[in-house]
Amino acid sequence: MHPLLERQIRRHLGEHPETVLPPPGDAAWEHLFNAIGESYEQLDRDLLLREQALNLTSEELNRRNDDLRRELAERTETEEALQREKGEQAALITRLEDAKRQLLYSEKMASIGQLAAGVAHEINNPVGFVQSNINTLAGYVEDLFALTDLLEEVAAGLPDDSPLGRKIRESCERYDLEFLREDVPKLLSESRDGVSRVRKIVQDLRDFSHPDEGKFAWIDLNPGIVSTLNIVNNELKYKAEVITELGELPLIEANQNQLNQVFLNLLVNAAHAIKDKGVINVATRHLPESGEVCISIADTGAGIPPENLKRIFDPFFTTKPVGKGTGLGLSLSYGIVQKHHGRIEVDSQERAGTLFQVFLPIHQPAAEASAAGQQA
Ligand SMILES: Nc1ncnc2c1ncn2[C@@H]1O[C@H](COP(=O)(O)OP(=O)(O)OP(=O)(O)O)[C@@H](O)[C@H]1O
Ligand SMILES: [Mg+2]
Repeated sequence: MHPLLERQIRRHLGEHPETVLPPPGDAAWEHLFNAIGESYEQLDRDLLLREQALNLTSEELNRRNDDLRRELAERTETEEALQREKGEQAALITRLEDAKRQLLYSEKMASIGQLAAGVAHEINNPVGFVQSNINTLAGYVEDLFALTDLLEEVAAGLPDDSPLGRKIRESCERYDLEFLREDVPKLLSESRDGVSRVRKIVQDLRDFSHPDEGKFAWIDLNPGIVSTLNIVNNELKYKAEVITELGELPLIEANQNQLNQVFLNLLVNAAHAIKDKGVINVATRHLPESGEVCISIADTGAGIPPENLKRIFDPFFTTKPVGKGTGLGLSLSYGIVQKHHGRIEVDSQERAGTLFQVFLPIHQPAAEASAAGQQA
């Protein structure tokens, strides 16, 4: 008999059902009990089957869940990889655009340099003979004055009523010989100064645009800084007192022409930052412990607001009015210093001033070094 059926009989008919039930051997009752027992067994089997089916379904669901989770992780990974790739592409495009702009700017600077070199060459010859003529002229003028001295002496020795003596005295007065004696040497000396200044500018222009584009050589930075200072002197002199403290520097492997562009831009920027009158300090020093030299240009100008500090090296970033600045100076300088394996550091305080420091290594890595070797 099915245990469940037995329990139910006991629950409904008491602990001794045999006293209530018909005696064993009653075929109808036995048949009924067997049929009920079989139904219970069938029910058990059905339940077992359902349980197994449920277990199978649950396992299948778990498997599907795992698959979905895996798929989701793969998709996230692919998406992240795509995003990364997109970022890298954007950075690459920006780098390419920067390179293109810098190239254009360098080309412009190179052609300006060539033009300047050409003009300097043309001016150099006439200035040379003007200078030499002034020196010769000074000698002639001295002779002429010696002659007029003699004439005056002759006139003084003649009697007062001598027509020749009178004529000489009148001429001396008419041509204001006294004044000429004072003024002519002054004029000659001023002209000499002027011509030497022109010669110096021409020399600076030639140094500045020396046609060694792209080549590294062993150079002393200090003369380059001095000639750049002379070139921008016009821009600086009304704005600032320029204090130079050029320390003793070792020769470094560098491209003079390109570095002059860096100094030029830093100096012009410093002058532009000063509103009325200020001070620009230009210093160079050797840093033996790091094998570098440092060029610092400090101004007492307007300073750079913190929000602009991280953008000043971006191409085309400028706070100057339209037509005054292209915003390329610092980006070009940054590129040049990077090419020299150096770095530019900026320290600025609003309304107090700005300090730019350019650090350059003395030695360049092998490739550039061999270029410098060929140059030397
Ligand atoms: N010494 C400085 N003091 C204050 N601000 C500065 C100084 N140097 C640079 N800046 C700021 O950085 C900006 C970018 O300088 P950058 O030299 O690249 O371009 P620019 O001087 O504006 O134009 P360009 O040099 O092409 O004529 C300037 O417009 C200015 O706002
Ligand atoms: Mg500039």
